[in-house]
Amino acid sequence: MIEKVKILLNEVEIFHPNSKVEVESFRLKYLGKKGEMNELFKILKDIPSQNKKEFGQKINLLKKNIQLKIDLYKDSFIALKSAENIDTSRPIFLDSIGSKHPISMIKDQIIDIFNRIGFTISEGPEIEDDWHNFSALNLPIEHPARDMQDTFFIQTDPDILLRTHTSSVQVRHMENNTPPIRTLSPGRVYRNEAISARAHCIFHQVEGLFIDENVSFADLKQCLLYFAKEMFGEKTKIRLRPSYFPFTEPSAEVDVSCNICNSNGCNVCKNTGYLEILGCGMVDPNVLENCGINSKKYAGYAFGMGIERIAMLKYGVKDLRLFYENDQRFLQQFNQLS
Ligand code: DAH
Repeated sequence: MIEKVKILLNEVEIFHPNSKVEVESFRLKYLGKKGEMNELFKILKDIPSQNKKEFGQKINLLKKNIQLKIDLYKDSFIALKSAENIDTSRPIFLDSIGSKHPISMIKDQIIDIFNRIGFTISEGPEIEDDWHNFSALNLPIEHPARDMQDTFFIQTDPDILLRTHTSSVQVRHMENNTPPIRTLSPGRVYRNEAISARAHCIFHQVEGLFIDENVSFADLKQCLLYFAKEMFGEKTKIRLRPSYFPFTEPSAEVDVSCNICNSNGCNVCKNTGYLEILGCGMVDPNVLENCGINSKKYAGYAFGMGIERIAMLKYGVKDLRLFYENDQRFLQQFNQLS
C-alpha cells in the first residue's frame, strides 16, 4: 500500500496541467467522492495498527500536495483565462480619442449664454423651400437682396434649396408657436461662394428671435451687450451701425471692441478698434404677418451670427479653412479649452 501512495505522490509531483479543465479532472481524480484519497482513507481503517501511523502520514502528505497543486494551478488559469480575452490584434499605440471641435465649443458657449436668459433651442431642415428661406422673410421672387446670398438650388426643383441662413428657422418657429417666443436656432448653412480664408460654402450660424408685446430696440441692444460681455469679456463694448436686411426694420450690424488691441487699432480690426460679429434688427411687421403673428399686438427682434466668425475672433484664427481640414495639430490646441 505504501508503494501505491508513493506512486501517487510521484504522479502528483509531475502533474503540470495546460488548462483549467485538466486541473478539474485532477481534482476529481484525487479528491472526488470516488477519488483516490477516499479510497486510501477507506483502506486506512483496515491497516494493521503498527503500520497505521506511517500510512496515515503518507496519505496526509499526499492530500496536502494534491491541494497545493490545485491551488497553484487554479489561480494561474484564472489569470490565463483573462489573458485569452485580450485582443492581441489591437494596435499598441492607441489613437487619441479626440476633442470637441472649436466650432462645437463656440456653439455650445453661445447656447449656454442665451439659455441663461431664457432662450430655448429650435432647429429646422438644411434642405429648405423658397418660402422659409426667402419669401416669408420679405424676399419675394425677383427681390434684388436674394443676390446677397448666392444660393445652391436643387436642380430638379427651383423651389428647393440648401438654406443660406438660419433665419429660415425663425419662420418655421413663428409658424408653429405663439408669442411670447424666445428661441435660438444654431445650424449649418450653405452658400455658393468661392472658398477662401474668409469665406466658405458651408458654415454655421446661430439665429436668435424674441417676440412679445412691447419689445423695443433697447431690449435688443441690451441683450446683445450681455452676450458680447459673456462671450468676449466684461470690458467688451458694442457698437451698432445702421444696416439693411429685408426681414428687419430698422436693421443694424453689431461690432464688438477689439480685445487684441483694446480698441487702439491693430491689423486684426484694421485699425478701427472694432470687429463685426452679427446682423440684427426689429422683425419686419410683414414677416410677423407672413408667419401668422399679429404685428399690431406683437413686436420682436432677431439677430444672426456666424459661429466661425466668433470662433476666429475669440481664438485669433486667421483662416476659416482651418476649421474644416481636420488637421490634428490645429484641433489639439483646443483640447485644454474644452
Ligand atoms: N440672415 C442674415 C445673414 O445670414 C443674418 C441676420 C441679419 C439674421 C439680421 C437676422 C437679422 O435675424 O435680424 O446674413
